[in-house]
Order: sequence, then structure tokens, then C-alpha cells
Amino acid sequence: MNPSDAELFLAKNFDRYLDELKTLARIPSVSFEGFDPANVKKSADATATLLKKVGFENVEVLPFEDAHPYVYGEWLKAGPNAPTAVLYAHHDVQPAGREELWQTPPFEPTMKKGPGGDRLYGRGTADDKAGILVHAAALDAFLKTAGKCPINLKVVIEGEEEIGSGHLEGFLKKYAKKLQADVIILTDTANFDCGRPALTVALRGLIGVDVEVRALTKSVHSGMWGGPVPDPVMALSKMLATLVDADGRIAVPGIREMVTPLTETEVANMKKIPFEEKLFREQVGMVTGAKLLPEGPNPIAQLWRFPSLTVTAIQASSRKSPANIINDAAWARVTIRTAPGMDPVKTTELLKKHLKAACPWGLEVELKGGDPHGGGAWAIDPTGPAFEAARSSMKKGYGEEPLMIGCGGSIPFVKPFAEALGGAPALLIGVEDPYTNAHGENESLLVSDLRKACVSQVHLFAELAERLRK
Ligand code: BES
Ligand code: MN
Ligand code: MN
Repeated sequence: MNPSDAELFLAKNFDRYLDELKTLARIPSVSFEGFDPANVKKSADATATLLKKVGFENVEVLPFEDAHPYVYGEWLKAGPNAPTAVLYAHHDVQPAGREELWQTPPFEPTMKKGPGGDRLYGRGTADDKAGILVHAAALDAFLKTAGKCPINLKVVIEGEEEIGSGHLEGFLKKYAKKLQADVIILTDTANFDCGRPALTVALRGLIGVDVEVRALTKSVHSGMWGGPVPDPVMALSKMLATLVDADGRIAVPGIREMVTPLTETEVANMKKIPFEEKLFREQVGMVTGAKLLPEGPNPIAQLWRFPSLTVTAIQASSRKSPANIINDAAWARVTIRTAPGMDPVKTTELLKKHLKAACPWGLEVELKGGDPHGGGAWAIDPTGPAFEAARSSMKKGYGEEPLMIGCGGSIPFVKPFAEALGGAPALLIGVEDPYTNAHGENESLLVSDLRKACVSQVHLFAELAERLRK
């Protein structure tokens, strides 16, 4: 069993993997409501085809109620003394957003030079169809060289990650036994920078509330009625404005109080993470005059260790036809990224209660939602043989030790799944980078990092075989 043969094979066949990735990325598998679910099904089928092609066995779509399809496959011939890994990624994607802002068509993956070198542009090229390819390429390389993979594999490719994995609880109840494993490898996170690998050891959670403020049963002429009749858009604006203080910190009483205080060790570790303000601003694309909002010891720690509040969408009338009306109602979605210590249910309740109380002028408020899935933050102590294997294999793949980082984003699958597996170590690796722009327009994947991630994955299988041998 020689990982360097597999590595050589990978290098020779990399263009084929890129083609497979393009095939997946051409399918607009948007899981959001209002988008054709047939495309998510198509993408599940294409994923299944790929998994079969590289040698996964018993590949099937795991049916569960009306969930977008989960794809499953296994390769269990490494023997009883070899460990078993669950490989996770997701095949659903975010909507394309504003099509006119895409420089290349969102669902026609296109190669172009960009930050770090050649990049593949298109929705899902990085988040998270590249994650599927990393798993597929690693098995392919082993089977086509050694004829055998050093560990047992169960691959699960989810179809509803981007909408909060709503069926996860029931899905795990039904399939937890089938998915038993010693370690979980998730390829759905970001590297620290181009060519700078990272292992993600903490995620924030996410909750969301939809708020609608209603003043009227219909929209009316703003000249004929404006003055005595309250404007629901102003009312909503006032309500939203009470949610944060002058420095942008969450001002809803009781929320920040829940956050587990930082320990000295945490602060010391965070100080080892390189932070350069200029680079940070450039990566995220902030306008020149905009201030960074302060909380915690530094902005990097803030991203994964403190909560944040974002209004992700707001609606009243439209920019296309801003008629002189008092709108009947105004709507917004308010989301909070939850930090360690925060109870997602309580956070949601506090937010709802605060919004309701902040509504002026006796208008009607309707509050909906509170995402019960993936609501809580997650963190893991990155010690033990599985993490040693991850560290060492990434060093081999990238030529550099991975940084241990937290992540401001959320992956609802991680916490309940790791628990269902009796606390199995979860290795979060991935090929996004600070220029990927996942969820925004012009999402892209750094091709050289996909290659390095595939090489790392080959080494990871080999190292896990050694370090977790039973
Ligand atoms: N791949 C992301 C998670 C992520 C974000 C990893 C940033 C690394 C950096 C994942 O696909 C995602 O977007 N998750 C959603 C989850 C939500 C719908 C519960 C998110 O964070 O918005
Ligand atoms: Mn993702
Ligand atoms: Mn995503």
C-alpha cells in the first residue's frame, strides 16, 4: 500500500477530476424553496454516477421523507482491523444571486486566472462540489494503483446543507447504525489562505427569524395618506436599529451574556493566528472608509468565537418600481451566528421577544422561524491520533503544517452526527479560501489547492490506517 503511487496517479489524472467537477457544477442544484427540486435530484444522480465510477460500492440515494436526496456509497474491503471513515460533503448549492454581477455564467464552470493562480469560477465549484471530488479522487487513486484502499469508507453526500439540513434528526435516527464509523472526514470548510491549509476545529451555529411588520391591509398613495398613517418600513427600520449598539454589537439583552468567556489559553492560541488588517479588508472586499467592528481580542477570533447579527434580506416594494406609496408591510430576515455557550432556542426567543417589543405605533408584527437545525456552535479538541493523521497528511499535501482555526460559518451536520457516532473525531478540511466568495457572485475554486487537498486526502487515508489500526 503505497500512498506515493496513489499520489502520482492523482497528478496524472487531475484533469479528469476537474472535468468531473465541471460536470457536477453545471447542474444548478439549488436546494432553496422556489427552485426546481428536480435539479437537486439530477445532481444526486450525477454524484452517484461519479461515486460508482471511482469504485464506491452499493451506491444509492438514501431516501428520507421529502428531503432533497442524500447520496450514499461504501467501500468496506479494507478488513476488520482497518478503521472506518465517514466521508461527508454536500451537493446542493446556494442560489446564483444577481446574475448580472457574474463575470462568467454561474452554472458554466469557467477557468480563469484569479487570486492564487488558476481558478474555476461557478456556483458550487468550491462550496461544495469540490468537496465531493476530494473524496472521489482519493478512493480512485488507491483502487487504480494498489487495487485497495487502506481504510473502510462510507460516503454521505448531503442534498440540503445550504437550507439548514432540516431532516437531519430523523435521517440520523434512521441511518446512524449504517453510518457507524471511527472518524468523520468533512470536506466543506476553508483554508486560511491560498496554499495555506487549515483544519477547522470550531464552527458557529445559526438561527434566523423572519419578521414582518404590517400597517395596512393594502398599499396606498403616500401623498394622499402620508403623515397620520404610519410607514411600516420606518417601523421595521427602527426595530432593526435596536438590535445592535453603536459598535455593531448585538444589543438584545441576554444574548451576549450567554457566550462562554474566552480562556487565557484560547487567547494565547488566537494570537498565533496571523492577522493583517490590510489583507483582511482586501479579502473580504470592504469599501475604503468602512470600519471593522470591534469585539474580542482580534477580528479573527471574533469570527468564530463571538456572535454576529446580520439582516440577510429585506423587502418592501422594489427598486424597479419605487412608487409613491406607503407600503402595506415590510419584511426582513434577521440571522444570528451563535457562539459557544449560546443556547440557540433561547437566542431565538430573546430575539423574537425583543423585536416584538420594539415595534412602534401599534403596528402588527409577525415573527416566523428560528432555525432549530445547526443552531448551536460546535468545537472539538484537536488532539489524538486522528488529528495527528490530519496534521501530518496536510503537511504532505500542502508542504505546510495546517493552522488550527475556527470558522464563522455553520455546518448543521457536524454536531449531531459526531454525537450519533459516539463522539467520533470530526476532521474538517476543505478547499474554500478567502477569495472563494461562496454564496456571493463569482464563486471560485483555487485549482492548485484542490490538487493539494486530493493529495492530502490520499495521505490521510494511509495515515489513518496506521494510527487507528484496531
Ligand atoms: N461550507 C459552508 C460552511 C462554511 C462557511 C465553511 C464558511 C467555511 C467557511 C456551508 O456550506 C454553509 O454555507 N453553511 C450554512 C449553514 C446554514 C444554512 C445552517 C451557513 O453557514 O450559512
Ligand atoms: Mn458548504
Ligand atoms: Mn455554503
